[in-house]
Amino acid sequence: MARERPGKADNRREASASPFYGQDILSVSQFTREKLEYIFGVAEGMREIVRRTGSTDLLRGKVLACLFYEPSTRTSSSFIAAMARLGGSVIPITQGVQFSSVSKGESLPDTIRTLECYADAIVLRHPEVGSAKIAADYARKPIINAGDGVGEHPTQALLDLFTIKEELGRIDGLKVAMVGDLKYGRTVHSLTKLLCLYDVELSFVSPEILRLPMDLMNEVKARGIPVRETYDVADVIEEADVLYVTRVQKERFADLSQYDQVKDYYEITPELMRRAKERMIVMHPLPRVGEISYAIDDDPRAAYFRQVENGLYIRMALLAAVLSKEVPIPNL
Ligand code: NCD
Repeated sequence: MARERPGKADNRREASASPFYGQDILSVSQFTREKLEYIFGVAEGMREIVRRTGSTDLLRGKVLACLFYEPSTRTSSSFIAAMARLGGSVIPITQGVQFSSVSKGESLPDTIRTLECYADAIVLRHPEVGSAKIAADYARKPIINAGDGVGEHPTQALLDLFTIKEELGRIDGLKVAMVGDLKYGRTVHSLTKLLCLYDVELSFVSPEILRLPMDLMNEVKARGIPVRETYDVADVIEEADVLYVTRVQKERFADLSQYDQVKDYYEITPELMRRAKERMIVMHPLPRVGEISYAIDDDPRAAYFRQVENGLYIRMALLAAVLSKEVPIPNL
């Protein structure tokens, strides 16, 4: 069965300046505040590089495989753009695995063991919880989890947290409200876990059937984080520093009549925004399908497209940190 391959273990021993060299990125549980600061520092350096010259040759000659069994716009394109701006290249299996041997019945382990013959790392999005871990058990090369079903989406959580820090200047002391599909939203799961490393207050706003899973709620409470649950955004809008809004994850519902009951539950409107703090931000992992009115897009507090841009810098930072021993960024 699955076992640790020598290549990956050796890489771990050799790790020097980058704490992520040769490592898988499977879950936010791998991160400490110190490691987050490291990635954020590299991401700031990457932003400088992109703004000044557009690209660098740090990963020249390196190849990344992007293997997506579920749809994606931002995650796949930002990994591809990140690799291009670092001077490397990509094997893009992002337009639907139906065009790969997966449609002939090839298993995930075999697909992974094939791609790693060509690539230095593999980014994987897959509908099953735990799939990234399974891939990592078979692979000699690093696996980066780009979403495993309703499980985790660690790279999204990194860019979400980076956005909060860049926009509001800090994370400690903030009141963060998560709104929408807290049951199936993997970005909510990963971001909630990361926020538990900080001194924050969390509110969870959802219809009854989309509440945060009990085990995650217990984990949050065990960390001593003050939590509140409500069905109504109006209960949190005045005090929130961050309103993190999510789409109801239609594809996860076994019974679509249940989806119909909750799909239009929330909409963040200009009226609601009038009651929010002057210095707060509205975030969304996107795509949005009605939860945020287009009428607030010009509100300076609408941070979701800045959040998208940060995804590029964070993924450049992660790829650099995983694929090169030393990351020569001035901010570090
Ligand atoms: C999210 C995802 O795939 O989990 N999208 C993303 O990666 N930015 C959120 C979603 O699909 O609702």
